[in-house]
Amino acid sequence: MLKILEFQVAQELLKTIKKLLMSLQINSLEDYHKAYQASVENPSKFWDEIAEKFFWRKKWTQTLDYNWNVPETKWFLGGKLNITENCLDRHLASKGDQTAIIWEPNDPKDPAQHITYKQLHSKVCAFANVLRNNGVVKGDRVCVYMPMVAELAVAVLACARIGAIHSVVFAGFSSRALSARINDAECKVLLTSDGGFRGDKVTPLKDIADEALKTCPSIKKSIVFQRTQQAIAWMPGRDVWWHEELTKVDDHCPAEVMDSEDMLFILYTSGSTGKPKGMVHTCGGYMVYAAYSFLNVFQYKPNDIYWCTADIGWITGHSYIVYGPLATGATTVMFEGVPSYPDYGRFWEVCEKHKVTQFYTAPTAIRALAKHPLSFVTNHDLSSLKILGTVGEPINEEAWHWYDDNIGKNKCPIVDTWWQTETGGMMISSLAGVTQDKPTFATLPLPGIQPVLLNADGTEITEIKAEGILAIKQPWPSLARTIYGDNERYKNVYFSAYPNYYFPGDGALRDAHGNYRITGRVDDVVIVSGHNLGTAPIENAINEHEGIVESAVVGFPHDIKGNALYAYVITYDGVIQTDELITEIRNLVAATIGAIAKPDKIQFVKGLPKTRSGKIMRRILRKIASGDTGDLGDTSTLLNPEIIDALQKGFDKN
Ligand code: WTA
Repeated sequence: MLKILEFQVAQELLKTIKKLLMSLQINSLEDYHKAYQASVENPSKFWDEIAEKFFWRKKWTQTLDYNWNVPETKWFLGGKLNITENCLDRHLASKGDQTAIIWEPNDPKDPAQHITYKQLHSKVCAFANVLRNNGVVKGDRVCVYMPMVAELAVAVLACARIGAIHSVVFAGFSSRALSARINDAECKVLLTSDGGFRGDKVTPLKDIADEALKTCPSIKKSIVFQRTQQAIAWMPGRDVWWHEELTKVDDHCPAEVMDSEDMLFILYTSGSTGKPKGMVHTCGGYMVYAAYSFLNVFQYKPNDIYWCTADIGWITGHSYIVYGPLATGATTVMFEGVPSYPDYGRFWEVCEKHKVTQFYTAPTAIRALAKHPLSFVTNHDLSSLKILGTVGEPINEEAWHWYDDNIGKNKCPIVDTWWQTETGGMMISSLAGVTQDKPTFATLPLPGIQPVLLNADGTEITEIKAEGILAIKQPWPSLARTIYGDNERYKNVYFSAYPNYYFPGDGALRDAHGNYRITGRVDDVVIVSGHNLGTAPIENAINEHEGIVESAVVGFPHDIKGNALYAYVITYDGVIQTDELITEIRNLVAATIGAIAKPDKIQFVKGLPKTRSGKIMRRILRKIASGDTGDLGDTSTLLNPEIIDALQKGFDKN
């Protein structure tokens, strides 16, 4: 009986292969405008036609149902599917021997792995059986705390295969951060590794996890992947070896049939303030949007080699290393290391080695690499590159041009993709080579996305050229459905400030052609002498100075003005940090924004406290700027906690 069912599924899958996903690709500016128009006029019809190209066990009966007062959003209601059948099974007949994942190790002396779709399918099914053997059933939460080994991708897909909900926690987080996330989602099983390699560091992941598990009663099993072979403690009964468990299973694992609105994963936002939010993404809508946006923004073509340098611990890795590329049958590169090891040319070496065609990274990485001699770039042949991308923060003009000139050689379109953990997929971005890019602008919304600019009172700004609070008007398929266990907080954060809009918390300006430029978080506002000043535009002004790499501006209490501005500034190597330079920076800000925005204090620093996803932790900068030498709160999520001491020592008292 089971065999007959599997045969029928296989037959249906074969039919789906003919529904070419490539037909979803927009190839001209005219097509973009047509698709956009169609998505606004009749969203249901528009998304129906896209979703039909995927493999569903049962078609949906209603496309969209939502009420943002609850708030509640549902897509493809009644549809049944398994995302791994779309990411793996459907490709087996046509491209089973094509490479799905190229895994590049931390150390360039070690061999890369090329994993075909057939092999990936087999690995995922086998590990899914390991999960089942260890008591995981549909609906259980599985925490994944692993380095960027290929098995991390296998792990998330294996969870999805059997309907378990994965919660990936970035392998740089502390034991406190890990246990808080495990407990919030009451995870049953932890997947970890003995250790992880990142540059010249070895992180003792199992030790950190063991510490976390002391306060995690929900965890019944810890499945340990062996990567570094370092000595580790072992708790018999709880801990099992990944490779030993694999010897007990075969690689036959029919996919669990999931409802379109069943949870696919939980992902905690890096959260520079407060308790992390477990954003919930569901199966159907997330799959459709991740694949559609991937195909269109990156203009992926057969045989392209696409590389996103993010970690799977972040949403960028979920949507654009794993699900988007695999759902479209692409070849995706996974990199275990860091851009600076063994030297600052590592990214470019990997591009050359694997003939990467699309390269997607963060502005913070670009700025860091731009500080070093160009020979790290010019030593490598980058002629395979066709398209470049950025994500995670606004990219300043200088970094954009450095990227364009030196990496893209002025021939690669740059997609500046604005989106969030909460949005699941890229929202505002050019489509590479199809719509026009513009330095520092994310540019136009993707089809199906309706951004607006609001005034502080929540009214929509009707002028095209304007600046305001960014909001989104209509649901799109990959919107996070809730915060795990706390729909009230979900409502408060995203749907209360401006009823009937999704509020992402960013500000933006729009040029006369409708291009959006993200100006930064609207919550980073300082009131100086009664004037509302966003810190992002001040930083942009400072960064315009040719001697400045990056800056961060915060407010600090001031007797007369209420608040004054304090700027932390990083200069290029070799720039002499003189009083003249301070005057130049002040004058530049005055010239760009107005004298009111001139920072009272400027401190030259070597680095800024950043979260793992590259966001400046302003809470810390505010404390230091206000002369507060007390407890800085939880700094365990910082990438570079060592910077704090130097910041405190250099505090400008005058
Ligand atoms: C910021 C990352 C300007 C923004 C995918 C957003 C950006 C937050 C851009 C989400 C961009 C992301 N230009 N700002 N291209 N992309 N941001 O959840 O403030 O880690 O709200 O998701 O990063 O960060 P998250």
